[in-house]
Parts: sequence; structure tokens; C-alpha cells
Amino acid sequence: MDQEALRAALAWQLALGADEALNETAINRFAAAPPAAAAVAAASAPLPSAAPSPAAAVPRAIRAAKGTPPDTGAEARQLAAAAMDLPALRQALENFEGCGLKATASNLVFADGNPAAPLMLIGEAPGGDEDRQGRPFVGVSGQLLDRMLASIGLDRDACYITNMLPWRPPGNRQPTAAELAACLPFLQRHIALVAPRVLVFVGGTSAKTLLGKSEGIMRLRGRWYDFKLPEVDEAIPALAMFHPAYLLRSPAQKALAWRDLLALQERLATAVTA
Ligand code: URA
Repeated sequence: MDQEALRAALAWQLALGADEALNETAINRFAAAPPAAAAVAAASAPLPSAAPSPAAAVPRAIRAAKGTPPDTGAEARQLAAAAMDLPALRQALENFEGCGLKATASNLVFADGNPAAPLMLIGEAPGGDEDRQGRPFVGVSGQLLDRMLASIGLDRDACYITNMLPWRPPGNRQPTAAELAACLPFLQRHIALVAPRVLVFVGGTSAKTLLGKSEGIMRLRGRWYDFKLPEVDEAIPALAMFHPAYLLRSPAQKALAWRDLLALQERLATAVTA
């Protein structure tokens, strides 16, 4: 292949979101073995005739063979609800197969910081650096987030950080509504287990999804909301803020971000003394 054709092939892959070299040699998935004999056998095996069982109890191969889409929502809720602490929740995510992003990500990006801190921040999804290191907000936007937090006297020990999604969308594309919905039960459980005094939604995706609003971050930022988890009585005060990646592109908006940081600092001061 000549240089020009090679460059075009690479550009095409980048446009598809394949921007990470994971192995020395490429894997041709079209040449992969056909579905395993076991799956074919499972497809033709009679279904258990006992009392109807919950979808999550029916093996995935059988459900697929019967043409029934897996109820990943119920599966995610069950797995998340069974997690009684953060290590168990992390393990539940490791076991969860209901979000396709897991297949293309290098690492699960669970959280960073101090789970006993009063402040929990929720971003959107890991990028390339986070995917490589398995920690949220370690790339350039994470460095800006650290500086923003430092401006009000906070560091990673004084807060706890996670994302809407624990796996990187290929090429850093926007998460789809289906991906956000698939992982939401884990995030809700994450918030319930950490039980922060104050929440910050970092960016439009987390603010819109968690508040169930259609307005953009321009309208949502700078306001306090009562965030309610399903089945938890007490609401958590939550502030929506600009995402640092947006501030890197639009530095003029840092003035508004500074205003939001001061509001956060004030709220935290009352939350920890209350
Ligand atoms: N952007 C996010 O929303 N989260 C990260 O972890 C990194 C970048």
C-alpha cells in the first residue's frame, strides 16, 4: 500500500473512533470463529419449564437465541442493589455485560478521591488518558478541574470523583442515551453508598441526565437542585457547573465557573458544619 493510501486508511479508522493502538498486531474480527458450538446447543436446548424466572436468571445465550432482548435495566438494577460497599459495586460493574463500551475500553474507570469527603463530583465519561490509567479526570480537563478545585482550597482528598459512564466511548464521542441508561443504576448506587453532603454535576451530560432536564448546561449551571435518589428520602443539594473541557475551549466562560466555585465553597462550608 502506498503512503497516501495508508494515511487515508488511518484517517478512516480515526474517524470511526479507533484512535488507540492496543496490540502490536491487528485482530481481524471478521475472520473470527463462528459462534461457539455451546451457544448453538444452548439455542436449541429446551427452556426450563419450571415457574417463570426473572430475566436476569435466564442465561444470556438462551435469551438471545429466543430473540428476547436481555433486560439489562433489570440486570443492572439487581447487580447494583446487591452491592453493599464500593469494592462490591466496582466488582458488580466488572461483571456487568450490558454496556457495549466495555468491549472497546482498556480499563474500568470507577472513581478517584476520598469517598468519606463531603463533596462528590460527577463527570461525563473517561477519555483516553483516563482509559489508560483507570482513573477519572487525569487528562488535560482533569488538570484544569484540579486547578478549579484548588482555587477554593480543595484537592482530591477533599472530594470524590466519578463519571456517568465507567468506560470510555471510542474516540471520545458523546455517550448515547442507551449507554447512559444502562449504567445509571450503578451510578445511583454509587451516590447512595458515598452519601455525599453536596453533589456537583460536571458538564451538561451529567446535569441533564441526573436532573432529567432537557435544557442545556448554559441554563442549568449555577443553580442548586434537590437531587433525589430512588428509594432515598433525603435529597442531596446539587450544583451544575461547566465541564473543564468546555472551559478549555471557551476560556471566557471561566468567569461564570469562578462564580459557581464560590457558591460551592460557601455551600460546603455550611454543609460540613451543619
Ligand atoms: N471528562 C470527563 O467527563 N470525565 C473524565 O474522567 C475525563 C474527562
